[in-house]
Amino acid sequence: MTETTLLVSKIKDGTVIDHITGGHALDVVKILGITGKTNGIVLIAMHVPSKQLGLKDIVKVEGRELDQEEVDKIALLAPGASINIVRNYQVIDKKRVKLPSLILGIVKCGNPACISNSNEPVQPIFYVEQEEPLRLSCHYCGHIMEKKDVLQQF
Ligand code: CTP
Ligand code: ZN
Repeated sequence: MTETTLLVSKIKDGTVIDHITGGHALDVVKILGITGKTNGIVLIAMHVPSKQLGLKDIVKVEGRELDQEEVDKIALLAPGASINIVRNYQVIDKKRVKLPSLILGIVKCGNPACISNSNEPVQPIFYVEQEEPLRLSCHYCGHIMEKKDVLQQF
């Protein structure tokens, strides 16, 4: 996107989550725990035309970087997203999010009878059967989780 068509301004220091699957900006905002009562500039653009994605969303957060759990959650919803670290207006690091083949701990199984939902100290484990649309299968009980099921937990 050129300067003349830049929809939201550049940020000085912080993180730009770009190439978010269209329609998921507000889910990303939720994952980051941004409520409107938190400090710092947050810029959100939705349904921006993109060469690679058709329509993409962008979230820019001034003054913070993301931890691995936040990045892993974003990867579940928006496997094409890129995380750009900005310092003094320059992009100093750019990474594509990456969905691992095993999801450990960050998603709970939707089957109440699953051993991972019992009182046993069993960490939830899911296999990524399909990235988009998302399909996870539980290691213990085979229960299938889709994007909408995962979103309810974030
Ligand atoms: N960006 C920003 N503030 C800055 C620098 C960059 O908000 N000070 C944003 C840009 O608007 C863009 C993203 O961070 O959405 C990545 O910037 P850049 O790498 O310069 O853009 P592209 O080369 O277009 O990125 P890509 O190749 O990942 O599409
Ligand atoms: Zn299960």
